[in-house]
Amino acid sequence: MEISGKTFVYWNGPKPELVTTNLEILKEVINDKDENFPKDDVEGYLRILLGDGLVVSSGEKWVKMRKLANHVFHGQSLRVGKEIEVFEEFKHLTSDIISRTAFGSSYVEGKDIFQMLWKLTSIIARNAHKIQLPIFQTRDNVESEMIDRFIRKSFIDIVEKREKDSGEVDCFGDDFLGSLMKAHYSVDECYKVTMDDMIDEFKTFYIAGHETTTGLLSWSMFLLAIHTVWQEKAREESFNLFKGKNPNSHDLSKMKTIIMLIRETLRLYPPTLSLIRRSKHEVNLGKVKVPGNTRQHFPVLFVHHDTEIWGEDAHLFKPERFSQGVAKATNNNPEMFIPFGSGPRSCPGSNFATNEAKIALSMILQRYSFTLSPAYVHSPCEVLTLWPKFGIPIFLHPL
Ligand code: HEM
Repeated sequence: MEISGKTFVYWNGPKPELVTTNLEILKEVINDKDENFPKDDVEGYLRILLGDGLVVSSGEKWVKMRKLANHVFHGQSLRVGKEIEVFEEFKHLTSDIISRTAFGSSYVEGKDIFQMLWKLTSIIARNAHKIQLPIFQTRDNVESEMIDRFIRKSFIDIVEKREKDSGEVDCFGDDFLGSLMKAHYSVDECYKVTMDDMIDEFKTFYIAGHETTTGLLSWSMFLLAIHTVWQEKAREESFNLFKGKNPNSHDLSKMKTIIMLIRETLRLYPPTLSLIRRSKHEVNLGKVKVPGNTRQHFPVLFVHHDTEIWGEDAHLFKPERFSQGVAKATNNNPEMFIPFGSGPRSCPGSNFATNEAKIALSMILQRYSFTLSPAYVHSPCEVLTLWPKFGIPIFLHPL
């Protein structure tokens, strides 16, 4: 971006791609409600991982599944002196939370499924820049097909167990699985979802629901471990609000310091590094004429570090920039803070994830102080979402 400016064309193999952090283009494309800029098609291993689930689907199917997800994930469905590697720990925690809230099972019950999904994620990462020749079956092809069959079978088992436990259609429960099953048995064709649809959503929500939140929690711990003044401020707020008890949903909205910390973490280490769309038809975007079927790429990381928006201190950890809200922090350009995307395809799990982070952080802060282990090596890398390549080893000191 420093060399080419805010808008340029980049060749992704044989395909041109418009890369831009221009605010007007971003607003026009990301907030478009008429499907002029749909999500890009996904292929290969990513297709196996996400199927035609909510993250990638379009048209009527997307409208139907999005309504269902909005209904379930409105943010209310969340009730809830040793070195540890927090990234791995948070993977288990967030997996457990999404399993319990969305599918009524636990991390332990779904452990094999998670391990398979993580394996698939690693396969995607190591093949991201490889060219696949369809005539050759690689070891990764064979393994990913095996994983796909395993996940399918496991999900059908989960559905059958719920059917057996509940008996009646009305008693499937009000979590995501229950809502999907009710839709599956609906006699109204407009609501009906197939078993394949259910499996795709199941994989989508497992992946979308824990990968990103694991990143948020891990990077928050990292930043608090090195900025101990903020760690103290956040601890004080947690003690004042919850007095050593577990947080309750009523008081979550009263958190001021922790929400500033969460926002600053999402700004500096956004789990989703880019938003991608495809122009259906030829279109003028700013001064650029973009042919139909061209990808537009919005690099969230650059948008979040743009000094024209955030000021010269854009690269520094300064949670106080959010003390008077997002509009003030972005110099009245709230669309430039997009950790959860924006417009019709923005994240339906944003409240859920933020509440999860608030609860987990305040519970940890009330029990431990923590510092970064000297073994830590700073190496953020993109594996679907932004991961710490060598984990985040932290020393926990009981209070
Ligand atoms: C810190 C946590 C999270 C971050 C940073 C995050 C980020 C995002 C972003 C940036 C998008 C929009 C992508 C685009 O416009 O191309 C998105 C979409 C989505 N997110 Fe999240 N997400 C988080 C947590 C969650 C959780 C907890 C769930 C599920 C409970 C979830 C489910 C989804 C789904 C299903 C979509 C696709 C929505 C659609 O296309 O209509 N996310 N997320």
